[in-house]
Amino acid sequence: MSRNPFKPTAGATPPVLVGREPALEELDEALDDGAGSPYLLQFVTGARGAGKTVMLTEMGRRARERGWIVVDETATPGLLTRLTRAVRHHREQLGSPDRSRISGVGLNILGTGGDVRMEGAPREAPDLRDEIGALCDAMDRHDGETGLIITVDEIHTIRQEELDELAAIIQHLIREDRSVGLLMAGIPQAVEQMIADNAQRPKVSTFLRRAERTVLEHVPLADVAAAFQQTISEGGRSISEEVAWECARATSGYPFMIQLVGFHTWRVGREGPVTREHVTQGRAKARKRLGELVHAPALRDLSAVDRTFLTHMSVDDGPSRYADLRTRMGETPNYISVYRDRLIRAGMIQPSAVHGHVEFALPELRGYLREHAAQLVAEVNEDDQG
Ligand SMILES: Nc1ncnc2c1ncn2[C@@H]1O[C@H](COP(=O)(O)OP(=O)(O)OP(=O)(O)O)[C@@H](O)[C@H]1O
Ligand SMILES: [Mg+2]
Repeated sequence: MSRNPFKPTAGATPPVLVGREPALEELDEALDDGAGSPYLLQFVTGARGAGKTVMLTEMGRRARERGWIVVDETATPGLLTRLTRAVRHHREQLGSPDRSRISGVGLNILGTGGDVRMEGAPREAPDLRDEIGALCDAMDRHDGETGLIITVDEIHTIRQEELDELAAIIQHLIREDRSVGLLMAGIPQAVEQMIADNAQRPKVSTFLRRAERTVLEHVPLADVAAAFQQTISEGGRSISEEVAWECARATSGYPFMIQLVGFHTWRVGREGPVTREHVTQGRAKARKRLGELVHAPALRDLSAVDRTFLTHMSVDDGPSRYADLRTRMGETPNYISVYRDRLIRAGMIQPSAVHGHVEFALPELRGYLREHAAQLVAEVNEDDQG
């Protein structure tokens, strides 16, 4: 029996990273150009399941392949401490001396007894800047052409103080012409809101606003169909062009669905050519799994009113009109706009091209809400009581 090549798991690198070559080429160029290249500072944004995490992984892989040092992190509390530790570890691996220890020894020789320098400098943040500087010096001595890439996933969940520190440090390093790159990934609206919230600190905010944006959209169906053919034949089975297109259409070009449709379609037969019947069964299973893996956890993170808002939207077959939502919910325009903005930031809905309308940001969410409306409303009532 052939091994299933598809990877329908959050963060798992897919067999083919469909449709992302243009963005990756921009990064390749930036890595060749080195210090000061704009694409070394960028936000990779996209809806849930659009492939942000795997994109950061691939970017990091390409950087390592070119000899850069890469540190991968997620923006949970303690980010700067972990970054400092990781950079220090890489510096030590390069056999570069520890500057802080040298100055600490100096103080002890002066007879102060304790390590005064350490007491006077309890914050980790200045250390990160020093550490990166020392690492870059060490790398310059090696080849002078590469540097350090830091990737930070889920950047929109970062604490404000940590964002300020990180931005200030990277800004200084770029000014010093260091070869450092900062690649950050997050939900688009949440990232923009995070930058806007920073407006009181204009320097940080301007710096972040100028970062490049790589928006991970849906992938073209022709690329998806070609990837199905490639993955399935490399996996030791066959699929006609026609059936590959059938698979592609079932994904709507949404990256998570590419893996789900592929995985479940493959499982129906396991051996021999993939048929249209396999796709029909695989697609149904993929839809169900998408609900469990993406929609259910996303809805669980929301408040009862947020979920009610979405359930009212799901009544429409296309984009929903604000005026209709007001009527259905029996609320004021103000109330509606507060919840609309919250849901846009959460990456659940987006303003529609049609004026005065909103639409779902996640594929198949409408169908999921319709199917689960009764249960979601029951959860709303439980929330109200709790
Ligand atoms: N370009 C792509 N081509 C094919 N499959 C992809 C692509 N991008 C992502 N995938 C697949 O989609 C799934 C989700 O990817 P990933 O976890 O990177 O998304 P994400 O945007 O980080 O989601 P979240 O917002 O939930 O963190 C994984 O199974 C991954 O293999
Ligand atoms: Mg992710």
